[in-house]
Amino acid sequence: MGTESELQASVQALVQKGKGILAADESAPTIAKRFAAIGLESNEENRRAYRSLILGTPALSDSISGVILFEETLMQRADDATPLPQLGARMGLVPGIKVDAGKIALALAPGDEITQGLDGLGKRLAGYKQQGARFAKWRAVYNVTDTLPSRAAMQTNAHALARYAAICQEQGVVPIVEPEVLIDGAHSLARCAEVTQAVLHEVFQALFDQRVVLEHLLLKTSMVLPGKAHAQAATPSEVAQATLRVLRRTVPAAVASINFLSGGQTPEQASANLDAINRCGVQPWPLSFSYGRALLDPALKAWGGQASRVRDGQSALLKRARLNAAACQGRYETAMESSG
Ligand code: 13P
Repeated sequence: MGTESELQASVQALVQKGKGILAADESAPTIAKRFAAIGLESNEENRRAYRSLILGTPALSDSISGVILFEETLMQRADDATPLPQLGARMGLVPGIKVDAGKIALALAPGDEITQGLDGLGKRLAGYKQQGARFAKWRAVYNVTDTLPSRAAMQTNAHALARYAAICQEQGVVPIVEPEVLIDGAHSLARCAEVTQAVLHEVFQALFDQRVVLEHLLLKTSMVLPGKAHAQAATPSEVAQATLRVLRRTVPAAVASINFLSGGQTPEQASANLDAINRCGVQPWPLSFSYGRALLDPALKAWGGQASRVRDGQSALLKRARLNAAACQGRYETAMESSG
């Protein structure tokens, strides 16, 4: 298959009405934090058991099209020795891979961060592809204050995201471009909107400059929300209106899909806000989810690291996946939380 048709086929497999993408690509420090919350040690065997639980969840593919994996998972095997990416593919889930190497402080820009990992990326991608990955993810993060992020941070992260996306497309791997405006801090909804607009504007300029084909990428972005420490919470309808206003101003209609990250919202908030966004009428792009915590936290709790509770973990994951699939179509109701 040529690169173009390969990209097109993977986009079609990922972007399906009423389905989202699961982010199960927690890096080593992040998974250690998630496991610590349930009193579980982060060792290779526990991580293998956890990722096997996720990828082996029956009927998950009714509401999830693809799963983003961490590098380690590509090489792990299920109990029956099936490589985990193949287990996912067998279950109807397109395997993807987080390819960035995490964030560090941005030089000469106190408070700002930059994501690294571009060196040797083309070669790494070729290897990941052989192991079954058909799409990739790169996350840039933006801290918000009255003065942050700086222009330098916005331009530098946009450049890195665009270079990553270009390298992916050249390899026939669909890039998920993820600029995350962080929820940490006391900033207002209006400040988040202002920052998100500037960030996305910069990202799409850089994608254009690097000749990235918009039809062959997915945008994974944060919703427009007030900071966690802000005095006033926002209603789902306020979040929806502010988010759509910014997206309509900055994201070309050619983009294949927008899949939100949950970014520290509770699972219920993430579903209610996505639902409100999808109740605002037809938009130029499908508006779906690519949640990590909002899908997996309840599953982690229900599993608790116990082999005897794998089914409980899978049911908890399936429930959140289904609720978010409903939210993709503006059909989520709070009452659905207490059933199933
Ligand atoms: P959250 O939904 O937990 O924010 O994770 C999404 C993700 O992939 C972060 O890179």
